[in-house]
Amino acid sequence: NNGASDFLPDVLDLASLRAAAARCEGCGLYRDATQTVFGEGPRKAAFMLVGEQPGDQEDRQGHPFVGPAGRVLDRGLEEAGIARDDVYLTNAVKHFSWVPRGKRRIHQKPTAAEITACRPWLEAELAVVEPRVVVVLGATAARSLLGAAFRVTRHRGEVVPLGDRLAVATIHPSAVLRAPDREAAYAGFLSDLRAAADVA
Ligand code: URA
Ligand code: SF4
Repeated sequence: NNGASDFLPDVLDLASLRAAAARCEGCGLYRDATQTVFGEGPRKAAFMLVGEQPGDQEDRQGHPFVGPAGRVLDRGLEEAGIARDDVYLTNAVKHFSWVPRGKRRIHQKPTAAEITACRPWLEAELAVVEPRVVVVLGATAARSLLGAAFRVTRHRGEVVPLGDRLAVATIHPSAVLRAPDREAAYAGFLSDLRAAADVA
């Protein structure tokens, strides 16, 4: 299995990538998800924000970060002075992974194999958007972009090289919502976003 690479279009632009990703069967996650949730934002955005994977709301609506985590992210961007027009938002994995619990769909972390399978889409987005700084949101995005040895808890808020680009990692906005001390977690998240804003 070559993952998503078998589904990449010949022409690399955002419209072609989005159309091709809609038909991706590079791993098993397309089977139980509603749709591919591709990245969104301007082609030459200064910031590329990379989350884990779409959640329940994103899967239904077809857009990244439109659920509860998205509200935390929106607030953080605004307070860090990062304009929406400067942001391309995407995820390390483009399909929702879930298990049923009663009538609810419970989010499941993507496996290492699924992260690897989906990486060609993320690499293609990076090549097209060429952001000045990549904001890595949580361990899954860090695993995809910075490798399995990278520790977000240790290196969050630092400017680190990502190929010929720069990246700043932080915790996932969902982790802010789950934290025992939400305010402290949010303050740390905001401080990392400000570090990213300073790079661009
Ligand atoms: N969490 C993510 O990582 N991405 C989304 O798009 C929504 C929630
Ligand atoms: Fe393709 Fe990624 Fe969806 Fe897997 S998760 S089917 S690799 S788009």
